[in-house]
Amino acid sequence: MIILSIETSCDETAAAIVRFRGRKAEVLADVVSSQIKMHEKYGGVVPQLAARAHLQNMVPVLEKTYGKAGIPKAKIDYIAVTAGPGLIPALMIGVNAAKALSYALGKPLVEVNHLEGHIYANWLSEKEGNAYKLKEMEFPVLCLIVSGGHTQLVLMRKDMEFKIIGETVDDAVGEAFDKAAKILGLGYPGGPAIERLARQGNPAAINFPRPMLSGPDLNFSFSGLKTAVLYETRGKDLADGKYVADVAASFQAAAIEVLTLKTVRAAKKYSVRNIFLGGGVSANKALRKALRDKVKKEIPDMYVDFPPLRFTTDNALMIAIAGYYRLGAKRGITDYKHLKADMNLRLK
Ligand code: KG4
Ligand code: ZN
Repeated sequence: MIILSIETSCDETAAAIVRFRGRKAEVLADVVSSQIKMHEKYGGVVPQLAARAHLQNMVPVLEKTYGKAGIPKAKIDYIAVTAGPGLIPALMIGVNAAKALSYALGKPLVEVNHLEGHIYANWLSEKEGNAYKLKEMEFPVLCLIVSGGHTQLVLMRKDMEFKIIGETVDDAVGEAFDKAAKILGLGYPGGPAIERLARQGNPAAINFPRPMLSGPDLNFSFSGLKTAVLYETRGKDLADGKYVADVAASFQAAAIEVLTLKTVRAAKKYSVRNIFLGGGVSANKALRKALRDKVKKEIPDMYVDFPPLRFTTDNALMIAIAGYYRLGAKRGITDYKHLKADMNLRLK
């Protein structure tokens, strides 16, 4: 079965063509066109500009994807597309492109939730040539989603069945990284910049708040942490590299402590078999290490894994994989008359 997938929920225009055979996913093409350079000067993603860029890039990205795959347009069996959540003007470009292709080629559509994509990036295991093996999953699975728009603990008892057991009550953790970086004058996106600087700083230099740590709660809050960075740095010399590195390291340590503690708490509460990370912030090596270490100490027989680095931030391969499992579960199969974009789409 060959799936063409499209992703435009934020600031990457992406498409992929993947041939699935049982547990094998052969990547015929996987193209991402990033708009980060354009949004950099505004210090964040500007939705209208993102939509314009998607409109400009969508067809060239599809042409490049088909070119790389080297197959006739009609050779695909399904078109999987991110229907939400995300920026609505951005989502609409990808959804409309998918509808047009579905209409022209007479192929069915599969509606995919962007966060399912981030979760299913964890199903990728060893690579042989350009084919990945898909992991044989043991459920229940717990996935901590940490992206620019979301921070959620998601419990899965089987494929394509999701229960949100904890989430942020205010800012997403990626957003907190981006805002802290902005305060420190590090540019956009902030996550990679904070991670880089944090390596040279002292994580115990400043005792930033760790909100909602006590009590049985599995929810998160990151807006207080961002405000604490703002207050801490007021009137300070941000040209002092040592100081800025200490703030970055202390901020990152506070965020990671809360994320890992709640994840382990959730894993114990629901007796899960596997723990995964998904979303842009899952690229963070300090977070990966902290989670691995804490799990090893507290639940030694637990399996912990992460998506390949290249597939932590937005891409279309993860949407193809989620689409494949959606087809397996007979969920979200639709047509060009019915598919909609939904900026608030929830996992369920
Ligand atoms: O998943 P993603 O590409 O887009 C959304 O769906 O939101 O995530 C983007 C977020 C941004 O906030 C970015 O700063 C953060 O992921 N990020 C990181 C790292 N790489 C990207 N945060 C911390 N450490 C990183 N290495
Ligand atoms: Zn994302």
